[in-house]
Amino acid sequence: MAGLATPMALRVAVTLGLPDRLLGHGATPDRLAAELEVSSVALEVLLEHLTTLEVVERSSTGYRTTAFGAHLCADADGGFTNILLSLDSAAGRAELAFVELAHSIRTGRAGYPRRYGKDFWTDLADHPRLRASFDQQMILRFQEQIPRIVAGFDWSRFTTIVDVGGGRGALLAAILTAHPLMRGHLVDLAATATDARHTFVAHHLDDRTEVTEGSFFDALPAGADAYLLSDILHDWDDEHAHRILARCAEAAHPASRVLVLEPVGDRRAITDMDLSMLVIYGGRERRIDEFRALAADHGLILDAVTDVTDQRCLLEFRLNDR
Ligand SMILES: C[S@@+](CC[C@H](N)C(=O)[O-])C[C@H]1O[C@@H](n2cnc3c(N)ncnc32)[C@H](O)[C@@H]1O
Repeated sequence: MAGLATPMALRVAVTLGLPDRLLGHGATPDRLAAELEVSSVALEVLLEHLTTLEVVERSSTGYRTTAFGAHLCADADGGFTNILLSLDSAAGRAELAFVELAHSIRTGRAGYPRRYGKDFWTDLADHPRLRASFDQQMILRFQEQIPRIVAGFDWSRFTTIVDVGGGRGALLAAILTAHPLMRGHLVDLAATATDARHTFVAHHLDDRTEVTEGSFFDALPAGADAYLLSDILHDWDDEHAHRILARCAEAAHPASRVLVLEPVGDRRAITDMDLSMLVIYGGRERRIDEFRALAADHGLILDAVTDVTDQRCLLEFRLNDR
């Protein structure tokens, strides 16, 4: 009956900053409620539940954060926990789309627009703070993966690479740093592309990189050796995934490769993330045969599959002879 109580209690605790506020001696519910401008009666109900979870404990001065609860503080895990849990961040807000899971299962469509009145990407565009938290989440979720992705695939075969929807450019910067003769071009939406420029300057890569503020539903930079789609296609339903692949195939030269880096279904994907892709984006973690079929419509042939990390596969497509 109360299955959602605990995850929501943790999210609300983080959103209100309770773990930070209650470090040390802690505070009484009345004082804390006055500071936070919330109901003291309701806050105590929340604190009592957090006590059963051992996130806080009762003290002579009210409630205080436990050593376990300190894992929920704003700077814990480099801020990643906070970004995932806070209802003010893109991730926390997006996960509430799960209340529309029944709609998603019935229709095969995202729950996010039903809950918020617009799709995820429009919502980010309308709220710069959500956009920034999402881009930061993308950086933090990839920190440990990137060195393995760079080492786990032979990027040296390419002289030019377009990172399609490349985010703030962390992966492309790492690839180019490891391969000094390679040039890169990143395409992403305006706010994110601006941040990518800063990333490349910080890595002294501005003379080997270009950044285009634009949409991957429009024409992509032509003639690159490789077009990289890192965690892109799983954000989209088949209709949109087709459009992205079409733009890659149109921009490619005959020997180009299209590289799809994703947690491929039944190889690297996990089922709860698969459900998340559905409720948030209307996308999914496709299986290899689904990618093969999707790409075939654009003259793309699956050449190789590499398990680059414990979480990601890299599917390499070439163009058939046209
Ligand atoms: C899941 S993130 C992946 C980012 C990056 N490729 C990575 O792996 O870290 C998806 C990216 O697609 C970008 N994106 C979404 N819609 C886009 C569009 N229409 N055109 C270009 N980029 C878009 C987002 O801004 C975001 O950076």
